Amino acid sequence: METFPFLWIICLLSGELIWGGFAQLVHCNAAEREALLDLKMGLNDSWNRLSSWHGTNCCQWSGIACDNTTGAVLAVDLPNSSGRQPLGGEIRPSLAKLKSLKYLDLSGNKFSGKIPHFFSSLENLQYLNLSFAGFSGAIPPNLGNLSSLQFLDVSSFSSNVDNLEWVSGLVSLKYLNMYSVDLSKVGGEWIEPLNKLPLLSELHLEFCVLSGFIYSISSVNFTSLKVLKLRDNSFKANLPNWFVNISSLVSVDIRNGMLTGRIPLGFGELPNLQSLKLNYNVELSASCFQLFSRSWKKIQVLDLSITELHGRLPALLGNMTSLIQFDLHFNYIEGGIPSSIGKLSNLQYIDLSLNNLTGSLPDSIGQLKNLVELRLNNNLLQGSIPSSIGNLQRLTTLTLASNKLNGTLPDSIGLLSELSSLDVSLNKLTDGFMPSRYVLPFLA
Ligand SMILES: *[C@@H]1O[C@H](CO)[C@@H](O)[C@H](O)[C@H]1NC(C)=O
Ligand SMILES: *[C@@H]1O[C@H](CO)[C@@H](O)[C@H](O)[C@H]1NC(C)=O
Ligand SMILES: *[C@@H]1O[C@H](CO)[C@@H](O)[C@H](O)[C@H]1NC(C)=O
Ligand SMILES: *[C@@H]1O[C@H](CO)[C@@H](O)[C@H](O)[C@H]1NC(C)=O
Ligand SMILES: *[C@@H]1O[C@H](CO)[C@@H](O)[C@H](O)[C@H]1NC(C)=O
Ligand SMILES: *[C@@H]1O[C@H](CO)[C@@H](O)[C@H](O)[C@H]1NC(C)=O
Ligand SMILES: *[C@@H]1O[C@H](CO)[C@@H](O)[C@H](O)[C@H]1NC(C)=O
Ligand SMILES: *[C@@H]1O[C@H](CO)[C@@H](O)[C@H](O)[C@H]1NC(C)=O
Ligand SMILES: *[C@@H]1O[C@H](CO)[C@@H](O)[C@H](O)[C@H]1NC(C)=O
Ligand SMILES: *[C@@H]1O[C@H](CO)[C@@H](O)[C@H](O)[C@H]1NC(C)=O
Repeated sequence: METFPFLWIICLLSGELIWGGFAQLVHCNAAEREALLDLKMGLNDSWNRLSSWHGTNCCQWSGIACDNTTGAVLAVDLPNSSGRQPLGGEIRPSLAKLKSLKYLDLSGNKFSGKIPHFFSSLENLQYLNLSFAGFSGAIPPNLGNLSSLQFLDVSSFSSNVDNLEWVSGLVSLKYLNMYSVDLSKVGGEWIEPLNKLPLLSELHLEFCVLSGFIYSISSVNFTSLKVLKLRDNSFKANLPNWFVNISSLVSVDIRNGMLTGRIPLGFGELPNLQSLKLNYNVELSASCFQLFSRSWKKIQVLDLSITELHGRLPALLGNMTSLIQFDLHFNYIEGGIPSSIGKLSNLQYIDLSLNNLTGSLPDSIGQLKNLVELRLNNNLLQGSIPSSIGNLQRLTTLTLASNKLNGTLPDSIGLLSELSSLDVSLNKLTDGFMPSRYVLPFLA
């Protein structure tokens, strides 16, 4: 569901450019050729990746693409990808002479020093990928001058940013990735400059040492935001309600964010939401009954494990029919499993283990024809295991351990030809049929 920027940009540029290696009708501009040769001089290319960089027509060099009519260099594409070896050395200012450059990918290499400040003069740049390119230190704020930039990837373990004001200059930005960049000095002010980017569709601020109060904003300008990734930060603050005013959201991941307070119920009304992961926020709470009584129209992946969900599961759970993956393990959920669960016909993975569920396993569970994993261990479930469980033909994992189930294991379990892991230990089951291929430790 995430957008794939590289494909976007290829569509964006195709037709008007010619990649090196293809038969060339256009000829390279001499000044740009000189600039590229000077750039090469600064690089440590111990693996000869730039061996094609000689001769007069730089449009034919590897990693270079030109405008098909003017011959201007439009793309410098030098990522360290599989089968290649990283480039090192320095990026010389001669790069800034490529005035028509739209696409620059230096990701995965071993350059040294800071991100050069002269990148900001490449004013036609639409795509800039410096992901794990070896640069360290402060990201230069003058990158904010790149008003045509649509994709910016500066993910890195060794970069930092003091404030994000400059980002609001990137008025064309659709995609921003600062994975693992140290934003600890930015405080709660990260959200305001980003809220000025009406085209922003995908935001990655994972592992950014963000902490503290998430500012409230007077009006939500994120009209295009689909993908929001904020996992592994240490907010120690509430998840603000305005998040659920971003009706374009498709995928939200704030796992392990030290969030506190309540899960806004409005997540369940977001018309496009397909994936929500708020797991491992041990102080984030919600009433199950209220939360799952919302429509959750398109939700496919819902992971709220290891939070503070409490109360009962409502029968309306059965209306969340797009669900594929549903994980609520390690919470404080009590009461029974509603029989409407049988309506979740797309469900492949369900984990309700480590809660306080009571009552018996509903017969309707046998209707979940696509189920691959069923985990209900460490609850207070009683009664017998319904024989309808034998209908779950795709089941590979069935974990019912540590409940109060009684009776015998139904014969129909022998029909589960994909089953590779079965644990019904620590129940009150009596000996009965037991398919010989299963190991049943501690059968009581
Ligand atoms: C940047 O490059 C890295 C590694 O080559 C890649 O995984 C990532 O998707 C690229 N970012 C964008 C926005 O294309
Ligand atoms: C150059 O690109 C344009 C579209 O941008 C296309 O119509 C034209 O045929 C291309 N010319 C050559 C020589 O490939
Ligand atoms: C060039 O790169 C190689 C391989 O990474 C390295 O061994 C060598 O020391 C580098 N040379 C310079 C001058 O940085
Ligand atoms: C560069 O790519 C090679 C080959 O895929 C890989 O072994 C190496 O770790 C990469 N280097 C960096 C710095 O990402
Ligand atoms: C580029 O950005 C810097 C700092 O953000 C600013 O001082 C400068 O005027 C900008 N230059 C242009 C050409 O916009
Ligand atoms: C919304 O975006 C516009 C520019 O697109 C900006 O002028 C305005 O200040 C933004 N509003 C907020 C609350 O940030
Ligand atoms: C969010 O939506 C609610 C209801 O539509 C509205 O009252 C509130 O002002 C909105 N908040 C923001 C920050 O836009
Ligand atoms: C739940 O689904 C039933 C039919 O499947 C529908 O009549 C009802 O309106 C739905 N309830 C909610 C709250 O969406
Ligand atoms: C779960 O049930 C056990 C046993 O009845 C009880 O001791 C415990 O307090 C309950 N925990 C929660 C969080 O409801
Ligand atoms: C299993 O437990 C239920 C409820 O605890 C009880 O009604 C039933 O008689 C028990 N069945 C067997 C076979 O022990």
